[in-house]
Amino acid sequence: MSAVEGRWPASPSYSDYLRADSHPVPEFLLQESRRDFGCAPLAVERYTSQTFFDREAERLWPRVWQMVCREEELREVGDAIVYEIVGKSFIVLRSAPGSIRAFYNSCPHRGRKLLDGPGRLSRLRCAFHGFRWRLDGCVESIPCEGDFAHVAAGDFDLPEARVACWGGFVFLNMDRNAPALEDYLGVLPAHFARWRLEDRYKAVHVGKVIACNWKVAQEAFMESYHVIATHPQILKFCADANSRYDILGDNVNRNLTAFGAPSPHLGAAVEESATVDGMLEMLGRKRDAAPQNRTPGASAGGSPRATLGALVRRSFSRTYAGDWSRATDAELLDAMVYNVFPNFSPWGGFAPNIVYRWRPNGRDVASCLMEVMILKPLGVGAVRPDPAPLRLLGPDEPWSSVAELPILGPVIDQDMQNMPLVQQGLAASGTGRVQLGRYQESRIRHFHARMDALLAD
Ligand code: FES
Ligand SMILES: [Fe+2]
Repeated sequence: MSAVEGRWPASPSYSDYLRADSHPVPEFLLQESRRDFGCAPLAVERYTSQTFFDREAERLWPRVWQMVCREEELREVGDAIVYEIVGKSFIVLRSAPGSIRAFYNSCPHRGRKLLDGPGRLSRLRCAFHGFRWRLDGCVESIPCEGDFAHVAAGDFDLPEARVACWGGFVFLNMDRNAPALEDYLGVLPAHFARWRLEDRYKAVHVGKVIACNWKVAQEAFMESYHVIATHPQILKFCADANSRYDILGDNVNRNLTAFGAPSPHLGAAVEESATVDGMLEMLGRKRDAAPQNRTPGASAGGSPRATLGALVRRSFSRTYAGDWSRATDAELLDAMVYNVFPNFSPWGGFAPNIVYRWRPNGRDVASCLMEVMILKPLGVGAVRPDPAPLRLLGPDEPWSSVAELPILGPVIDQDMQNMPLVQQGLAASGTGRVQLGRYQESRIRHFHARMDALLAD
């Protein structure tokens, strides 16, 4: 193969799977988009050096749009959450029915942090000397106010970061000169217009501190190349090496991996029934009792993907509100993993959408917080449930201990077996370099190219 020119040449390609879909596939999924970022190795210091981390803290985090929470977490006026990033802290709150604001979580008097965690507030108050603010951040009362006659009016109002929303998510940016969120997100809103994450609710939210740099954790979820060694149990129904990797502008890329089709690493010997059975087992689904559904590979007269797509489509129609008749097999089965620079990764498609976020843990170069959300469509006839609060796992609690992550939990535990050891191995590196595959790891290279541009600017 000429890796410089194109994708890894496993056959069929992901686009071939799309063209064989039982339903018409939208054009934006068919479009392939590659970009060449060269093939220079990455220095391990990117992951291990406190100096490099500090440059990220100064030049990257204050200038990017960051997903801070779901809008549904700020449903009522006064609902507030605290968002923290490399030593900065923000109060993100609904200040009026149509307005969400983000205040620096620091008292303009002598700096006390104002809020510790989520809550519903009628006003903001500092517990140190009792300054008070309205929900729009304007200072409302100051004990012994005359003692501050030398401070200009407005100087005790709470400074704000920019806030914007997309897809039911709230984003924050500290940089007043940054592009608008809709420009920053590029093609993302157009792609997700079909999947409407704003209509979903946060059914699951789990986090865990991991002993590795935030980029080590994130990059473990940016390619399907690791499936062969890290998740071999899914090879029968995961077309890992056939995956497509698309670079979709400065801040967005995606990885499309077909499920319900076997890995080419297994050769041609995989029976279709083994692919269907393996996929069904992973989904925790039993085959329908109807005779025509007992042997899905053969009975539907189509591919395993068409059969599985039909099964999931039927199940969705029974379970979730909405019309699923035009959902493609791909959108019901596949991993459509988008990444938005620097650390937000929503899955596209119609299956319950996974959302990842990775953040440094304070200012520790070798520790991070990984969070997983699952967004679900509303149930048939159901009212919108309250969003799930974050459940933070302890150091010895595996992801598989979360009952709401029956499929994903054990898989992430396999990824977790790598991450701290990657960090340790990078620190012990004999080459000082990380070498990336030209195509299958191209999203990681895109990420670092984007980061380099910001750090140098
Ligand atoms: S530090 Fe907040 S009122 Fe004094
Ligand atoms: Fe993985």
